[in-house]
Amino acid sequence: MTDNKTDNLSAHAVYFIFGATGDLARRKLFPAFYSLYREGKLGKRFAIVGLARRPRTDLQFRDDVHESIREFCRYKPGEKDDWAEFAEHFTYQSLDIRNVDGFRELKAHTEELEKKHQIPGNRLFYLALAPELFGKVSHNLREGGMLESQGWHRLVIEKPFGYDYPSAQRLNEEISRVFKEEEVFRIDHYLGKEMVQNIEMIRFANVFFEPLWNNRHIANVQITLAETVGVEERGAYYDKSGALRDMVQNHMLQMLTMIAMEPPSRLDAEDIRDEKVKVLRSIRPFHSADEVRRRIVRGQYAHGSLKGKEFKGYREEDSVNPESHTETFFAARVFVDNFRWAGVPFYVRTGKRLPVKSTEIVIEFKNVPNNVLFARAQDLTPNLLVIRVNPMEGIYIKINAKKPGNDMTIQPVAMEFCQSCQIGINTPEAYERLIFDASRGDSTYFTRWDELAAAWQLIDPIAHAWKEHGIEPALYPAGSWGPAQAEKLLHEDGFHWWPVGGQDEDNVIWVRNSEN
Ligand code: BG6
Repeated sequence: MTDNKTDNLSAHAVYFIFGATGDLARRKLFPAFYSLYREGKLGKRFAIVGLARRPRTDLQFRDDVHESIREFCRYKPGEKDDWAEFAEHFTYQSLDIRNVDGFRELKAHTEELEKKHQIPGNRLFYLALAPELFGKVSHNLREGGMLESQGWHRLVIEKPFGYDYPSAQRLNEEISRVFKEEEVFRIDHYLGKEMVQNIEMIRFANVFFEPLWNNRHIANVQITLAETVGVEERGAYYDKSGALRDMVQNHMLQMLTMIAMEPPSRLDAEDIRDEKVKVLRSIRPFHSADEVRRRIVRGQYAHGSLKGKEFKGYREEDSVNPESHTETFFAARVFVDNFRWAGVPFYVRTGKRLPVKSTEIVIEFKNVPNNVLFARAQDLTPNLLVIRVNPMEGIYIKINAKKPGNDMTIQPVAMEFCQSCQIGINTPEAYERLIFDASRGDSTYFTRWDELAAAWQLIDPIAHAWKEHGIEPALYPAGSWGPAQAEKLLHEDGFHWWPVGGQDEDNVIWVRNSEN
């Protein structure tokens, strides 16, 4: 957390949205600004400037914003008579980002806005653009005089941060010619999710868990990020990226590091990120093709059905090469080779066109040592702690209790706190939290360069082995849990994937604060 952090209010600033006519702005950014405004977190001294090539008047732009908020925001404009006042803060400028003259005009426009809204020169540049343009925009921001104001300047960027380590490094070099590391906020929207941020609280604020959080008591960790969607209209991007780069390099590794990291010495952005980097550096590399074959499953969805609906195979999707070898499913057995985790497998899996939309982290504990009592009873079911990240948010624990009656029979019981179904809790979207944090200069939940570099260094050898050794994805029918090898990965170690997304086992009694 930096000096500029104020507690409950964003800093007074001008927010520049590059790519303001695009999908991200429409679905996520405008709604996030409106929610912050409605909750009083933006205050009154701010301005938002939409930038894109397409000509739009301020009024047309405000209509676009209104439309997007009506469709995607958890607050609806009109519930309160504040829309007109909010809309006043939005202006639009058509900009060719390759041409520095446009940036000079932007400077003049910004100075007027700063005067009008009494903003002390703080400027936040949100690049909802293709990464190839980050370098150019940074350069032109400086050349056009946009970084000459008195206040702070921050750059917020979206993934993909490169395609591999060398390209990420080049991208970073271009940006760092203009912005210092502490001015760059790299978004991984998973870090903005309520339950991902809650991992720290669950781990470090509960005596139930922290003493057990190690290889003496944890048998394995399972991280699933399952999606029912296919590649939708993103075939051209996805075919070059695949699940490894689209999901594993960022969201999956972020969740893994939050689970595995040591308690930071201070709750400070740098200390927390230092601990996460240490985890990434402790992950056992996948340094041979043999190891990649043994510990990783690569899959691609074929034609199949999901919830009674037929879906075409990945290779038939729009803008996808009909002979594509891109993976839409990834599962791996990962080891964190440090004192705390030696010997504990972390199983990670992610895929498109799986049976449910669900991101969950399952911590499976080791059983108590067998004793006379349990030798008479049936097998114990392991205790589980499950963190439900998305779309359901909450946690549950599974314990063993006695079945009422004379026999010493064990009854597994799951007790769940469903946060998202709790009445009155209206969980902020990831983007609200992240924009708010960036405006306050709090970079805790943003990816630092060394974190990103360490993640690419882990990922690159996998992509390399796939390519050089012709390791192709195994096909799986849409609507299934991926190739059979993904089950084998756990069976070989005597484990299985626990059901996720509310799919229950038969014999468990559930205690819930709400139905889901
Ligand atoms: C994005 C990926 O980063 O995350 C998408 O590019 C994916 O392919 C999405 O669908 C999943 O995010 P969420 O929040 O819906 O789980």
